[in-house]
Amino acid sequence: MAKSIKSQSVLLLNGPNLNLLGTREPHLYGRDTLPQIERRLAARAKAAGVKLECLQTNHEGVAVDRVQQAKRERIGFIILNPAAFTYSSIALRDALTAVQIPFLEVHLSNIHAREPWRAHSHFTAVAVGSILGLGSSGYDLALEYAIGRLKGSGRA
Ligand code: DQA
Repeated sequence: MAKSIKSQSVLLLNGPNLNLLGTREPHLYGRDTLPQIERRLAARAKAAGVKLECLQTNHEGVAVDRVQQAKRERIGFIILNPAAFTYSSIALRDALTAVQIPFLEVHLSNIHAREPWRAHSHFTAVAVGSILGLGSSGYDLALEYAIGRLKGSGRA
């Protein structure tokens, strides 16, 4: 059966303070701004025939609501940088396991090479996988994986 249009959609969800990318501690997070990253990924997704939805929020409930909405919209894959929610948000983790939408966890920095308390993520155990420490190219790699998976290339 043909996949629905929405199941060919990817949600890029970014957590708190990632709206400050570009100026926020560039030695850790690089110089690309979030609008630049979102535009780049949207262009790649479009070329691959996949729709990209983007949300950055500083509010936990907004992120939970967006994940629940993604289920109703039949979004097929989520790319998530939970940022500081990584360490605190059982609610967002529960939303992801509730909707059963596969997701990749992305962090620009290598959270294992920083303060010890950054190393434990609530999301890693329920994610398809994690991409850490590759700067903003981690998002591009996550999108390539999502495209391969949605298009059923067999490699994802
Ligand atoms: C981050 C790493 C987190 O530890 C931090 O709280 C962030 C950004 C990253 O992308 O490297 O906000 O998720």
